[in-house]
This record gives sequence, C-alpha cells and structure tokens, in this order.
Amino acid sequence: MLERFDHDGPAAGLVNRGGPAPADVLWQVLEVDKRLRRTRNGHSPGVVWFTGLSGAGKSTVANLLEQRLHASGKHTYLLDGDNVRLGLNRDLGFSDDDRSENIRRVAEVAKLMVDAGLVVLVSFISPFRSDRALSRGLLEPGEFCEVFVDTPLEVAEERDPKGLYRKARAGLLPDFTGIGSPYEPPEDSEVHIDTTRLSPAEAVEVILGRLRHMGW
Ligand code: ADX
Repeated sequence: MLERFDHDGPAAGLVNRGGPAPADVLWQVLEVDKRLRRTRNGHSPGVVWFTGLSGAGKSTVANLLEQRLHASGKHTYLLDGDNVRLGLNRDLGFSDDDRSENIRRVAEVAKLMVDAGLVVLVSFISPFRSDRALSRGLLEPGEFCEVFVDTPLEVAEERDPKGLYRKARAGLLPDFTGIGSPYEPPEDSEVHIDTTRLSPAEAVEVILGRLRHMGW
C-alpha cells in the first residue's frame, strides 16, 4: 500500500508499506547462518504464534511457555502486541490496514529472530487469517506453530482485564476487536486451546507436546 507522509525528513514522500520488494536490492548471503546457529544453540528456532481476542489469555500462556522454554535452556524471545505497539509500531492504530501492517512488521521481526536462532513467541490478536497466513509463509515449513487461544467473547468481556471492553461498549473504542472490528478464528491451527476448559499451565503442556511432535 502506498501512503503519503505529510512531514519532512527521511520518511517524507511515498512509502511502500508491504508491497513488492524493491527491484534493485538483492539478498546478501551471509556466512554465519541459521544452520550454524542451530548447531551452536542445540535446538531448532521457530515461531509460536498466539492469536485470539483481547483478554483471551494469549500473553499469560505465552509468558508461562517462555519461562518453561527458558528454564530448559532454549534461547527465546516474546514479542507482545501491546509492547511492540509502544515502540516499533507506535505509528499504527487499529484500522484494518494498520492491523495488517502491525502483523507484517512483527512477522518480519520474528523471521529475523528465527534467523538469529531463537524460539520466538508472538502474542498478537492478529485477527485476520490472510495476515497470519502471510506470516507463516515467511518461514520454512515446520518453523511456524499457530496457537489459537480460544476464549468466547462473553468470557473475555467478563474478564475485561484492562477495562477496554467496557470502554468499547460505551462507544469510546469504535474499532475494538470482537465488537466493532472482526476476529477471524483459525481453521487449522497447530494447537487449539479452549481456555474455558484448560488452565494456563495445562495449555503450556499441550503446546510443549505439539512442539516436541514437530521436532523442535
Ligand atoms: S492487532 O489486532 O493489531 O493484532 P495487537 O495485538 O497489536 O492487535 O494489540 C492489541 C492490544 O491493543 C489489546 O490487547 C489492547 O490492550 C489494545 N487495544 C487498544 N485498542 C484496541 C482496539 N481497538 N482493538 C483491539 N485492541 C486494542
């Protein structure tokens, strides 16, 4: 998508957001690569991608999973939607286009981190199937584990840990996910967690089982 920035400076003018790669830039092959890093680290890199409504419990489960992986000697990093939106993506809002750009950027960051040898946990609402598919497509087969943190809207709204559902119902957040903005649940995620039946600790066991099965 082409977008015109009003301000002066390096980003002024037309900016290519997520369009085709520039024609005159070629991939630089580097000698220290993912395979060498995997050998040194003693484990495979990859992305565990958490998707679900706000308040579904994504970050709680991702946090617990990262603690387990870290304790077992894995090199990890957790990219959390709220945190990334306070830094790298602070210029983005919650329109459909901005959410897509949010996911495109975090997927590219996660890909770099996988190249660096890490197990990357990504915890974003990531409401659109097409954006999640693009993120998966950036990685090699078997490197992407999608985890659907499935919490019914009524339950997430009842929990309302940040008071945002209340604000949305009061008309103060017109594009809030699940109320004024859609959420497209995954159809074939690697892991499906029903948070009304599993505790966060049990969810982590299910995910770890799947990661072992995937050979991580
Ligand atoms: S995403 O849809 O673009 O993937 P992301 O995970 O980065 O969303 O950010 C979601 C977080 O932003 C929520 O957990 C919530 O705290 C906050 N937030 C603020 N406004 C909104 C909104 N309109 N819709 C959803 N989340 C919002």
